Amino acid sequence: MNKKLLIGTGVALSLLFSPISQAFAAEEATGERKQVDNIAHRGATGYAPENTIAGFDLAVDMKADYIEIDVQRSKDGELVVIHDTSVDRTTDGTGKVGDLTFDYLRSLDAGSWKGEQFAGEPIPAFEEILDRYHGKVGILIELKAPELYPGIEEQVADALKERNLDKPQNEKIIIQSFNFESMKKMDQLLPKVPIGVLTSNRADTTAEALQEFSAYADWFNPSYGIVTEELVNQVHSLGMQIGSWTVRSQEAADFLFEMEVDAIITDYPDYVDPRN
Ligand code: G3P
Ligand code: CA
Repeated sequence: MNKKLLIGTGVALSLLFSPISQAFAAEEATGERKQVDNIAHRGATGYAPENTIAGFDLAVDMKADYIEIDVQRSKDGELVVIHDTSVDRTTDGTGKVGDLTFDYLRSLDAGSWKGEQFAGEPIPAFEEILDRYHGKVGILIELKAPELYPGIEEQVADALKERNLDKPQNEKIIIQSFNFESMKKMDQLLPKVPIGVLTSNRADTTAEALQEFSAYADWFNPSYGIVTEELVNQVHSLGMQIGSWTVRSQEAADFLFEMEVDAIITDYPDYVDPRN
């Protein structure tokens, strides 16, 4: 895993004059602030269309540690990267992802809704994302609504195995979902790949629930509204890490730094890493 403590050895001159950077410098000087993984939520979504190469490339430029992607499946069995289970909000098409062919999905414009400069950005294929980014940036793979796509776990596992991304040295692949049964299955298929569970439900934060998650999950990833210091400590005491979402303000990022989470999943990588 990627947990590191920051050691206060100074910061670059160019960073010294912003308030955020000064706060970082002060914390580094005391050695109190640990390194937090900066995870670009669906790419650098604050600045570019979500789940597109444009957004993922920008996240890499912004020095994100991971990109987060949402994986679903076309009618004819191809894995694609899109968040909603329909294409209506983020493309110029209509219909449910699982009812549309790969060729049709690839023909859609997934960029224009965010701005004319992104016109023609396609919906990426899952394997295209693995090939383009593995080894370059971590990939947090969310299986989105896997209950709609029977067998998607095996398909994702095969794509990772084909690329040797199921090995322990490849620490920068994580698989997560709101569907816990799917994640139990994923853990069996890829025992060496870290697994995460997603929730925004306080009922999933009881001692019993956390204990159960820790049997197969390495990450407990709640929405930030339910994060408390106590929760972070409980998660850590069970040997899991905690990544929280979705940060869209500096205040939310600062709250999560204070909670000492291990990863912050954000539309704005610059709120987590002031080098930008
Ligand atoms: O990675 C956390 C986050 O992606 C979960 O919510 O709806 O953005 O997929 P959502
Ligand atoms: Ca997601």
